[in-house]
Amino acid sequence: MQIFHTLADWRAVRKTIPVTASLGFVPTMGNLHVGHASLLTTSRQENDLTLASIFVNPTQFNKPDDFTHYPRTLEADLALLSDTGVDYCLLPQEKEIYATGYTYKIDETISHQLMEGKHRPGHFTGMLTIVMKLLQLVQPQRAYFGEKDYQQFQLIRDMVTSFFLDIEIKPCPTIRETSGLAYSSRNNRLTPEQRQLADQFARIFHQSSLSNEQLITALTACGVSVDYLEEHEGRRFTAVNIGDIRLIDNYKLNSSVSVTHTGA
Ligand code: PAF
Repeated sequence: MQIFHTLADWRAVRKTIPVTASLGFVPTMGNLHVGHASLLTTSRQENDLTLASIFVNPTQFNKPDDFTHYPRTLEADLALLSDTGVDYCLLPQEKEIYATGYTYKIDETISHQLMEGKHRPGHFTGMLTIVMKLLQLVQPQRAYFGEKDYQQFQLIRDMVTSFFLDIEIKPCPTIRETSGLAYSSRNNRLTPEQRQLADQFARIFHQSSLSNEQLITALTACGVSVDYLEEHEGRRFTAVNIGDIRLIDNYKLNSSVSVTHTGA
């Protein structure tokens, strides 16, 4: 696996990739887990070459503490990327990515008033801005995003359409633990007691026959604080707080709940 610390080094190599070779892209903020591994594996199956980026993007954290405490696990991440057979890893520096400051931004005006957009002001602008920058730098044929962050996937897909980028945005199913809890970098920060509550949250949330109100009541009763639990376009979405750890999840309604387990 080739690792790039500067944009110039990567761009020089990008120019040498033949136009006939397809490049798949998996952008990440590191602290990689089996959810990321599944995106990488899908990219490897569908493309000649795969690039993963690791960049903890400061502009998408609406709470400075979250950015500071975001787990940085570079050594383990590089091992996972290399074990998964990734060809290239881009580790850009903040000073290069935001060389002109945070002056040019991608703003979306509808979804950003809903759910994650409403509860995390500025998050989607920071996320779309970094994804646009990375797509311009990497110039992939395809880019892969987990359905756990479904609103994020929809926004990126629609941004790419709006700005006529010739890139396929591919959603990949959420990977879950046996309890149904979606893999997330934030799970690592749960204490053993919080972890039990997170499993309970997942089991309750996946009772798709219950109404939103019944779910909120059941979650609140067991000590999970619900930010929102809503339905949009046939999907049910939620964000909850367990202690100071915020977890999000969603699933498609009116279909047998498809839970992809890893058996972990
Ligand atoms: O989903 C994430 O990890 C991040 O939002 C992304 C897409 C890598 C942008 O920083």
